Amino acid sequence: MTSILSISNHSLPGSTVISSFSQIDFPAKSQRSSSSTPKFLSHKADEFAAGHIALSAPASGRRGLLFIATLPCLLPLTQIMDCHGAHAIESGTKEYVLIKEEVRKVLSKGKAAGVLRLVFHDAGTFEMDDNTGGMNGSIVYELDRPENSGLKKSIKVLQKAKTQIDAIKPVSWADMIAVAGAEAVAVCGGPKIQVSVGRLDSLEPDPEGKLPEESFDASGLKKCFLRKGFSTQELVALSGAHTLGSKGFGSPISFDNSYYKVLLEKPWMSSGGMSSMIGLPSDHALVEDDECLRWIKKYADNENMFFEDFKNAYVKLVNTGVRWKSL
Ligand code: HEM
Repeated sequence: MTSILSISNHSLPGSTVISSFSQIDFPAKSQRSSSSTPKFLSHKADEFAAGHIALSAPASGRRGLLFIATLPCLLPLTQIMDCHGAHAIESGTKEYVLIKEEVRKVLSKGKAAGVLRLVFHDAGTFEMDDNTGGMNGSIVYELDRPENSGLKKSIKVLQKAKTQIDAIKPVSWADMIAVAGAEAVAVCGGPKIQVSVGRLDSLEPDPEGKLPEESFDASGLKKCFLRKGFSTQELVALSGAHTLGSKGFGSPISFDNSYYKVLLEKPWMSSGGMSSMIGLPSDHALVEDDECLRWIKKYADNENMFFEDFKNAYVKLVNTGVRWKSL
Protein backbone atom coordinates (compact mmCIF):
# COMPACT_ATOMS: atom_id res chain seq x y z
CA MET A 1 0.00 0.00 0.00
CA THR A 2 1.43 3.35 -0.97
CA SER A 3 -0.63 5.53 1.33
CA ILE A 4 0.73 6.67 4.67
CA LEU A 5 -2.34 6.89 6.80
CA SER A 6 -3.21 7.31 10.38
CA ILE A 7 -6.60 8.26 11.64
CA SER A 8 -7.66 11.31 13.56
CA ASN A 9 -10.41 10.73 16.05
CA HIS A 10 -13.33 11.67 13.90
CA SER A 11 -12.61 13.04 10.51
CA LEU A 12 -11.86 10.33 8.03
CA PRO A 13 -14.64 10.33 5.48
CA GLY A 14 -14.95 6.57 5.66
CA SER A 15 -15.79 6.76 9.34
CA THR A 16 -18.76 9.02 8.91
CA VAL A 17 -21.99 7.12 9.10
CA ILE A 18 -24.42 9.84 9.92
CA SER A 19 -27.03 8.92 12.43
CA SER A 20 -28.10 12.30 13.71
CA PHE A 21 -28.03 15.94 12.69
CA SER A 22 -28.63 17.16 16.19
CA GLN A 23 -24.99 17.87 16.86
CA ILE A 24 -24.15 20.23 14.05
CA ASP A 25 -21.82 22.95 15.22
CA PHE A 26 -20.14 25.70 13.29
CA PRO A 27 -16.46 25.79 14.19
CA ALA A 28 -14.40 28.80 13.34
CA LYS A 29 -12.10 28.27 10.42
CA SER A 30 -9.07 28.51 12.69
CA GLN A 31 -10.07 25.15 14.12
CA ARG A 32 -9.51 23.57 10.78
CA SER A 33 -5.89 23.09 11.55
CA SER A 34 -6.65 21.20 14.75
CA SER A 35 -5.96 17.53 15.09
CA SER A 36 -9.56 16.75 14.20
CA THR A 37 -8.97 17.81 10.63
CA PRO A 38 -7.48 15.48 8.06
CA LYS A 39 -4.21 17.03 6.96
CA PHE A 40 -2.60 16.42 3.67
CA LEU A 41 1.00 16.15 4.68
CA SER A 42 2.17 15.45 1.20
CA HIS A 43 2.51 18.66 -0.73
CA LYS A 44 2.98 16.86 -3.99
CA ALA A 45 -0.15 17.46 -5.94
CA ASP A 46 0.41 14.63 -8.36
CA GLU A 47 0.73 12.13 -5.54
CA PHE A 48 -2.51 13.36 -4.07
CA ALA A 49 -4.26 13.13 -7.42
CA ALA A 50 -3.03 9.57 -7.61
CA GLY A 51 -4.54 8.94 -4.20
CA HIS A 52 -1.48 9.00 -1.97
CA ILE A 53 -2.50 10.95 1.06
CA ALA A 54 -1.34 11.30 4.61
CA LEU A 55 -3.62 12.22 7.46
CA SER A 56 -2.83 13.77 10.82
CA ALA A 57 -1.88 11.71 13.83
CA PRO A 58 -4.60 10.37 16.10
CA ALA A 59 -5.40 12.30 19.20
CA SER A 60 -7.44 9.98 21.37
CA GLY A 61 -7.56 6.55 22.92
CA ARG A 62 -10.16 5.52 20.38
CA ARG A 63 -7.30 5.28 17.96
CA GLY A 64 -7.00 1.52 17.87
CA LEU A 65 -10.70 0.92 17.57
CA LEU A 66 -11.16 3.49 14.85
CA PHE A 67 -8.16 2.20 13.01
CA ILE A 68 -9.73 -1.24 12.87
CA ALA A 69 -13.17 0.13 12.09
CA THR A 70 -11.83 2.09 9.18
CA LEU A 71 -9.26 -0.44 8.04
CA PRO A 72 -11.16 -1.26 4.86
CA CYS A 73 -10.89 2.43 4.04
CA LEU A 74 -7.11 2.59 4.22
CA LEU A 75 -6.69 2.65 0.52
CA PRO A 76 -5.68 5.20 -2.07
CA LEU A 77 -7.99 8.15 -2.28
CA THR A 78 -10.25 6.94 -5.04
CA GLN A 79 -10.91 3.83 -3.03
CA ILE A 80 -11.46 5.84 0.10
CA MET A 81 -14.15 7.65 -1.80
CA ASP A 82 -15.61 4.32 -2.87
CA CYS A 83 -15.54 3.18 0.69
CA HIS A 84 -17.16 6.42 1.70
CA GLY A 85 -19.69 5.92 -1.06
CA ALA A 86 -20.54 2.59 0.48
CA HIS A 87 -21.83 4.45 3.50
CA ALA A 88 -23.75 6.74 1.19
CA ILE A 89 -25.48 3.74 -0.31
CA GLU A 90 -26.88 3.06 3.10
CA SER A 91 -28.07 6.59 2.69
CA GLY A 92 -31.49 5.38 3.08
CA THR A 93 -30.68 7.36 6.25
CA LYS A 94 -33.60 9.60 6.91
CA GLU A 95 -31.39 12.72 6.98
CA TYR A 96 -30.21 12.10 3.41
CA VAL A 97 -33.69 11.26 2.18
CA LEU A 98 -35.10 14.38 3.84
CA ILE A 99 -32.57 16.64 2.08
CA LYS A 100 -33.12 14.91 -1.24
CA GLU A 101 -36.90 15.14 -1.03
CA GLU A 102 -36.98 18.81 -0.04
CA VAL A 103 -34.43 19.66 -2.76
CA ARG A 104 -36.51 17.88 -5.38
CA LYS A 105 -39.50 20.04 -4.42
CA VAL A 106 -37.65 23.26 -5.35
CA LEU A 107 -35.48 22.00 -8.20
CA SER A 108 -36.66 22.19 -11.80
CA LYS A 109 -34.63 21.36 -14.90
CA GLY A 110 -34.29 25.08 -15.60
CA LYS A 111 -32.67 25.67 -12.21
CA ALA A 112 -30.36 22.66 -12.40
CA ALA A 113 -27.40 24.35 -14.16
CA GLY A 114 -27.07 27.11 -11.58
CA VAL A 115 -27.35 24.63 -8.71
CA LEU A 116 -24.66 22.36 -10.17
CA ARG A 117 -22.42 25.36 -10.70
CA LEU A 118 -22.75 26.16 -6.98
CA VAL A 119 -21.00 22.88 -6.17
CA PHE A 120 -17.88 23.79 -8.12
CA HIS A 121 -17.82 27.32 -6.75
CA ASP A 122 -18.04 26.08 -3.16
CA ALA A 123 -15.69 23.07 -3.40
CA GLY A 124 -13.36 24.41 -6.10
CA THR A 125 -11.67 26.87 -3.73
CA PHE A 126 -9.80 23.95 -2.15
CA GLU A 127 -5.99 24.09 -2.18
CA MET A 128 -4.00 21.14 -0.93
CA ASP A 129 -0.86 23.07 -0.09
CA ASP A 130 -2.39 25.08 2.71
CA ASN A 131 -5.50 22.90 3.14
CA THR A 132 -7.86 25.85 2.73
CA GLY A 133 -11.20 26.07 0.97
CA GLY A 134 -13.29 23.12 -0.12
CA MET A 135 -16.85 21.96 0.28
CA ASN A 136 -17.71 23.97 3.37
CA GLY A 137 -20.71 26.13 2.48
CA SER A 138 -18.54 29.27 2.42
CA ILE A 139 -20.04 30.16 -0.96
CA VAL A 140 -22.86 31.88 0.98
CA TYR A 141 -20.31 34.52 2.06
CA GLU A 142 -18.78 34.81 -1.40
CA LEU A 143 -21.78 35.59 -3.59
CA ASP A 144 -20.65 39.15 -4.34
CA ARG A 145 -17.39 37.98 -5.91
CA PRO A 146 -17.38 38.51 -9.70
CA GLU A 147 -16.78 34.81 -10.42
CA ASN A 148 -19.96 33.98 -8.47
CA SER A 149 -22.21 36.35 -10.33
CA GLY A 150 -25.62 34.83 -10.92
CA LEU A 151 -25.32 32.28 -8.12
CA LYS A 152 -27.40 34.22 -5.59
CA LYS A 153 -30.57 33.02 -7.24
CA SER A 154 -29.47 29.40 -6.95
CA ILE A 155 -28.79 29.86 -3.23
CA LYS A 156 -32.25 31.40 -2.89
CA VAL A 157 -33.78 28.33 -4.54
CA LEU A 158 -32.02 26.06 -2.05
CA GLN A 159 -32.79 28.37 0.87
CA LYS A 160 -36.46 27.43 0.60
CA ALA A 161 -35.62 23.74 0.96
CA LYS A 162 -33.08 24.41 3.72
CA THR A 163 -35.64 26.28 5.80
CA GLN A 164 -37.97 23.28 5.63
CA ILE A 165 -35.20 20.87 6.58
CA ASP A 166 -33.81 23.07 9.36
CA ALA A 167 -37.22 23.01 11.01
CA ILE A 168 -36.81 19.25 11.39
CA LYS A 169 -33.03 18.82 11.72
CA PRO A 170 -30.45 21.49 10.93
CA VAL A 171 -28.49 20.85 7.78
CA SER A 172 -25.24 22.49 6.66
CA TRP A 173 -25.02 24.51 3.44
CA ALA A 174 -22.23 22.21 2.35
CA ASP A 175 -24.54 19.17 2.56
CA MET A 176 -27.39 21.06 0.91
CA ILE A 177 -25.24 22.01 -2.07
CA ALA A 178 -23.57 18.59 -2.37
CA VAL A 179 -26.91 16.76 -2.44
CA ALA A 180 -28.63 19.40 -4.59
CA GLY A 181 -25.89 19.26 -7.26
CA ALA A 182 -26.30 15.50 -7.49
CA GLU A 183 -30.06 15.89 -7.80
CA ALA A 184 -29.58 18.57 -10.47
CA VAL A 185 -27.59 16.09 -12.55
CA ALA A 186 -30.18 13.34 -12.05
CA VAL A 187 -33.19 15.55 -12.82
CA CYS A 188 -31.62 16.40 -16.20
CA GLY A 189 -31.11 12.74 -17.10
CA GLY A 190 -27.52 12.32 -15.88
CA PRO A 191 -26.14 9.62 -13.61
CA LYS A 192 -27.67 8.99 -10.21
CA ILE A 193 -25.10 10.07 -7.65
CA GLN A 194 -25.31 9.35 -3.95
CA VAL A 195 -23.24 11.49 -1.66
CA SER A 196 -22.55 11.20 2.03
CA VAL A 197 -23.83 13.82 4.42
CA GLY A 198 -22.44 15.31 7.62
CA ARG A 199 -20.32 18.20 6.35
CA LEU A 200 -19.62 21.14 8.62
CA ASP A 201 -19.96 24.70 7.38
CA SER A 202 -17.26 27.33 7.57
CA LEU A 203 -18.15 30.59 9.29
CA GLU A 204 -16.18 32.75 6.91
CA PRO A 205 -15.34 33.09 3.24
CA ASP A 206 -12.55 31.05 1.67
CA PRO A 207 -9.45 32.81 0.31
CA GLU A 208 -10.06 34.58 -3.01
CA GLY A 209 -8.67 33.78 -6.44
CA LYS A 210 -8.70 29.99 -6.15
CA LEU A 211 -11.15 29.10 -8.90
CA PRO A 212 -9.82 28.61 -12.43
CA GLU A 213 -10.38 31.51 -14.79
CA GLU A 214 -12.14 31.09 -18.10
CA SER A 215 -9.10 32.54 -19.86
CA PHE A 216 -6.82 29.71 -18.66
CA ASP A 217 -5.21 27.52 -21.28
CA ALA A 218 -5.10 23.73 -20.86
CA SER A 219 -1.83 23.82 -18.99
CA GLY A 220 -3.20 26.41 -16.54
CA LEU A 221 -6.38 24.39 -16.03
CA LYS A 222 -4.45 21.18 -15.44
CA LYS A 223 -2.15 22.82 -12.90
CA CYS A 224 -5.07 24.46 -11.15
CA PHE A 225 -6.95 21.17 -10.86
CA LEU A 226 -3.83 19.31 -9.77
CA ARG A 227 -3.39 21.76 -6.88
CA LYS A 228 -6.86 20.69 -5.77
CA GLY A 229 -6.05 16.98 -6.11
CA PHE A 230 -7.73 16.39 -9.47
CA SER A 231 -6.14 14.64 -12.44
CA THR A 232 -6.46 15.68 -16.08
CA GLN A 233 -9.05 12.97 -16.61
CA GLU A 234 -11.09 14.35 -13.72
CA LEU A 235 -10.72 17.89 -15.12
CA VAL A 236 -12.16 16.71 -18.43
CA ALA A 237 -14.94 14.67 -16.80
CA LEU A 238 -16.01 17.49 -14.48
CA SER A 239 -15.92 20.04 -17.28
CA GLY A 240 -18.67 17.97 -18.88
CA ALA A 241 -20.96 19.78 -16.41
CA HIS A 242 -20.97 22.56 -19.02
CA THR A 243 -23.33 20.41 -21.02
CA LEU A 244 -25.94 22.08 -18.78
CA GLY A 245 -26.62 25.80 -19.17
CA SER A 246 -26.49 28.21 -21.99
CA LYS A 247 -23.06 27.76 -23.55
CA GLY A 248 -24.46 25.90 -26.53
CA PHE A 249 -23.52 22.29 -25.83
CA GLY A 250 -26.77 20.64 -26.84
CA SER A 251 -29.92 21.07 -24.77
CA PRO A 252 -29.32 23.38 -21.77
CA ILE A 253 -31.40 21.08 -19.58
CA SER A 254 -30.10 17.66 -20.66
CA PHE A 255 -27.15 16.15 -18.89
CA ASP A 256 -25.54 14.05 -21.62
CA ASN A 257 -22.23 13.77 -23.49
CA SER A 258 -23.02 16.42 -26.08
CA TYR A 259 -20.37 18.69 -24.49
CA TYR A 260 -17.66 16.38 -25.84
CA LYS A 261 -19.33 15.81 -29.21
CA VAL A 262 -19.63 19.56 -29.76
CA LEU A 263 -16.06 20.20 -28.57
CA LEU A 264 -14.78 17.85 -31.26
CA GLU A 265 -16.65 19.82 -33.91
CA LYS A 266 -15.06 23.14 -32.77
CA PRO A 267 -18.05 25.25 -33.89
CA TRP A 268 -16.44 28.41 -32.48
CA MET A 269 -13.93 28.28 -35.34
CA SER A 270 -16.65 29.06 -37.86
CA SER A 271 -16.88 32.72 -38.62
CA GLY A 272 -19.89 34.72 -37.48
CA GLY A 273 -23.29 33.47 -36.40
CA MET A 274 -24.22 31.96 -33.07
CA SER A 275 -21.84 29.00 -33.38
CA SER A 276 -18.85 31.24 -32.68
CA MET A 277 -20.40 31.88 -29.25
CA ILE A 278 -20.40 28.23 -28.22
CA GLY A 279 -18.32 27.30 -25.19
CA LEU A 280 -15.91 29.23 -22.97
CA PRO A 281 -12.24 29.84 -23.85
CA SER A 282 -11.39 27.23 -21.18
CA ASP A 283 -13.63 24.68 -22.94
CA HIS A 284 -11.96 25.42 -26.27
CA ALA A 285 -8.53 25.05 -24.67
CA LEU A 286 -9.23 21.44 -23.64
CA VAL A 287 -9.49 20.17 -27.23
CA GLU A 288 -6.10 21.69 -28.07
CA ASP A 289 -4.34 19.55 -25.48
CA ASP A 290 -3.48 15.97 -26.51
CA GLU A 291 -4.05 14.43 -23.11
CA CYS A 292 -7.41 16.16 -22.68
CA LEU A 293 -8.35 15.32 -26.25
CA ARG A 294 -7.96 11.60 -25.58
CA TRP A 295 -10.55 11.82 -22.79
CA ILE A 296 -12.82 14.07 -24.83
CA LYS A 297 -12.90 11.45 -27.60
CA LYS A 298 -13.61 8.64 -25.15
CA TYR A 299 -16.49 10.52 -23.54
CA ALA A 300 -17.89 11.59 -26.92
CA ASP A 301 -17.93 7.94 -27.97
CA ASN A 302 -19.15 6.45 -24.75
CA GLU A 303 -21.71 8.27 -22.65
CA ASN A 304 -21.75 5.53 -20.01
CA MET A 305 -18.05 6.01 -19.42
CA PHE A 306 -18.60 9.76 -19.04
CA PHE A 307 -21.43 9.19 -16.56
CA GLU A 308 -19.34 6.79 -14.50
CA ASP A 309 -16.26 9.05 -14.46
CA PHE A 310 -18.34 12.15 -13.79
CA LYS A 311 -20.03 10.40 -10.89
CA ASN A 312 -16.72 9.43 -9.29
CA ALA A 313 -15.16 12.85 -9.83
CA TYR A 314 -18.29 14.53 -8.45
CA VAL A 315 -18.18 12.45 -5.26
CA LYS A 316 -14.51 13.37 -4.89
CA LEU A 317 -15.32 17.06 -5.50
CA VAL A 318 -18.00 17.20 -2.81
CA ASN A 319 -15.64 15.51 -0.36
CA THR A 320 -12.67 17.84 -0.88
CA GLY A 321 -11.53 19.82 2.11
CA VAL A 322 -14.55 18.66 4.09
CA ARG A 323 -14.69 18.75 7.87
CA TRP A 324 -17.06 16.00 8.83
CA LYS A 325 -19.33 16.22 11.80
CA SER A 326 -18.07 14.03 14.61
CA LEU A 327 -20.02 10.92 15.37
C1 HEM B 1 -12.62 23.94 -15.76
C2 HEM B 1 -12.74 25.14 -15.26
C3 HEM B 1 -14.04 25.90 -15.29
C4 HEM B 1 -14.20 27.19 -15.69
C5 HEM B 1 -13.10 28.14 -16.15
C6 HEM B 1 -15.60 27.50 -15.58
C7 HEM B 1 -16.17 28.71 -15.86
C8 HEM B 1 -17.52 28.92 -16.04
C9 HEM B 1 -18.13 30.16 -16.47
C10 HEM B 1 -17.37 31.46 -16.77
C11 HEM B 1 -19.45 29.96 -16.59
C12 HEM B 1 -20.51 30.98 -16.97
C13 HEM B 1 -20.83 30.86 -18.41
C14 HEM B 1 -21.86 31.89 -18.85
O1 HEM B 1 -23.04 31.61 -18.67
O2 HEM B 1 -21.45 32.93 -19.28
C15 HEM B 1 -19.70 28.59 -16.22
C16 HEM B 1 -20.93 27.99 -16.21
C17 HEM B 1 -21.17 26.77 -15.64
N1 HEM B 1 -20.26 25.98 -14.96
FE1 HEM B 1 -18.26 26.16 -15.08
N2 HEM B 1 -16.26 26.39 -15.12
C18 HEM B 1 -15.34 25.40 -14.92
C19 HEM B 1 -15.60 24.14 -14.42
C20 HEM B 1 -16.83 23.73 -13.96
C21 HEM B 1 -17.09 22.55 -13.18
C22 HEM B 1 -15.99 21.59 -12.70
C23 HEM B 1 -18.42 22.50 -12.95
C24 HEM B 1 -19.23 21.50 -12.17
C25 HEM B 1 -18.84 20.28 -11.86
C26 HEM B 1 -19.02 23.62 -13.63
C27 HEM B 1 -20.36 23.88 -13.73
C28 HEM B 1 -20.91 24.88 -14.49
C29 HEM B 1 -22.31 24.94 -14.90
C30 HEM B 1 -23.37 23.88 -14.60
C31 HEM B 1 -22.47 26.12 -15.60
C32 HEM B 1 -23.77 26.66 -16.26
C33 HEM B 1 -24.44 27.58 -15.29
C34 HEM B 1 -25.70 28.23 -15.84
O3 HEM B 1 -25.93 28.24 -17.05
O4 HEM B 1 -26.46 28.76 -15.01
N3 HEM B 1 -18.02 24.37 -14.19
N4 HEM B 1 -18.51 27.99 -15.87
